[in-house]
Amino acid sequence: MLEIRDIDVFYGASQALRKISFSADKGRVACVMGRNGVGKTTLMRAVAGQQAVRSGGVFWEGENISKLAPHERARRGIAYVPQGRDVFSQLTVLENLKTGFAVLPRAGRHIPDEVFELFPVLRQMLKRRGGDLSGGQQQQLAIGRALVTRPRLLILDEPTEGIQPSIIKDIQRVIALLRDRGDMAILLVEQYFEFARDLADNYLVMDRGEEVLSGLGADMVEAEVRRYIAV
Ligand SMILES: Nc1ncnc2c1ncn2[C@@H]1O[C@H](COP(=O)(O)OP(=O)(O)OP(=O)(O)O)[C@@H](O)[C@H]1O
Ligand SMILES: [Mg+2]
Repeated sequence: MLEIRDIDVFYGASQALRKISFSADKGRVACVMGRNGVGKTTLMRAVAGQQAVRSGGVFWEGENISKLAPHERARRGIAYVPQGRDVFSQLTVLENLKTGFAVLPRAGRHIPDEVFELFPVLRQMLKRRGGDLSGGQQQQLAIGRALVTRPRLLILDEPTEGIQPSIIKDIQRVIALLRDRGDMAILLVEQYFEFARDLADNYLVMDRGEEVLSGLGADMVEAEVRRYIAV
């Protein structure tokens, strides 16, 4: 399980996160909400190791990973699907999926069938270039690439941003399926209230780098949360 304890993050002199604490458990979805620029991505980057933490700590499966490099966290089962997806546009779908192999031991370097079961469109498009896929297909590819590493913590930063409603439903279904398997913690950034409410087991709402609300998904009060989100 993931535990974020009282972390402070700075960009130069400006403080992006103030004493943020949150947790994500296996078989559960932990959801981070808040308007543009409040620090959601900064928090994900701090967990993935792409952003240094000034104070406080990030603990994963009982270990303080705060000082570990991103690839060391990836080897410990943490996969990060960044906002905007970062699919390699010149590589084919298959080549994009294979970039996930880097963190695996040699014997584990194959693409699990489940990637194609969850996202059948990827099998049909294996030879297409990433850049030729629609936004929604690229998002599915980015999640598929993360699953190739067989993560125990899957970080999804606004997977529905700029994506057509039919694919949003597909992505929601896949997140629920992965959660229900029970072996993976999912840390999700989301701005759409309904999407977050349907999936969140626990949640954190941020404003200007600080926590303003948190609790169990089941106790989420729509009117309170909506004060701090855009959609
Ligand atoms: N590399 C950086 N250098 C300096 N400031 C940054 C950097 N990245 C982000 N910031 C600032 O830190 C704050 C938080 O940004 P962050 O990207 O974490 O917000 P966010 O909640 O993910 O926003 P969005 O909803 O638009 O994705 C913003 O004020 C942003 O301008
Ligand atoms: Mg962001």
